[in-house]
Amino acid sequence: MKSEILVSREWRYAVKKYDKSKNIEVEDLELILKAINLAPTSYGLQPFKIIHVKGDKVRAELKTAAYNQGQITDASDLLVFAHATVVHPMIIDRYFNNLIIKRKPNLKEVESYKNRVTEALTKWPEAQQAAWCDKQMYIAMSYGLQAASDLRIDSSAIEGFDQHRFAEILKINTTLWKPTVSLTLGYRSKNDSSQHLTKVRLSENELIYTFE
Ligand SMILES: Cc1cc2nc3c(=O)[nH]c(=O)nc-3n(C[C@H](O)[C@H](O)[C@H](O)COP(=O)(O)O)c2cc1C
Repeated sequence: MKSEILVSREWRYAVKKYDKSKNIEVEDLELILKAINLAPTSYGLQPFKIIHVKGDKVRAELKTAAYNQGQITDASDLLVFAHATVVHPMIIDRYFNNLIIKRKPNLKEVESYKNRVTEALTKWPEAQQAAWCDKQMYIAMSYGLQAASDLRIDSSAIEGFDQHRFAEILKINTTLWKPTVSLTLGYRSKNDSSQHLTKVRLSENELIYTFE
């Protein structure tokens, strides 16, 4: 188990070329989506949504908006992550509605806590709210990368795309949501030379500092 943690992380790499003929099993995709949904977020608000893009035509359009990166069309599955542009009331309401259903708490206490959370987040300038939502979303995306590699399913995060074009193509209401990253999932092509590259990472001394 302990060694599997590193084996799985070493096995994963950012796929450049997928094997178009191989699709992910439905139950594996469901598992990855469940893992994404289990990612922690600040206050638990999950201020984002995920669009599972199906259909060759729309994926071909998205590819052109992603500097022709082949992963967009050739992966088995494409998930586009869009974060909330501000912490709008719907983000807060949907969390608290779920909380009330799941935990059956004291409603007065929940109302007061909800007001405190709303106050804490919505007093920020809009750009800071957007950046906060974006950060929460990336944690979820990385849960997807990791769950996939645990299943030995290949992946690549894709940030290189024109966000405005993606929003247009996917008919995303940009006053509420902003697509900033995609997760492609599938199986690597035998011809993807990236799989043979040695990983480039900081040494632990460069990354981790001790402070006593
Ligand atoms: C948030 C994020 C966005 C990325 N966007 C792209 C991208 O648009 N195109 C691409 O080819 N790789 C993309 N990558 C892959 C990185 O370049 C890659 O993860 C990094 O070089 C480390 O290599 P490894 O993942 O193979 O270990 C992205 C990775 C992350 C985490």
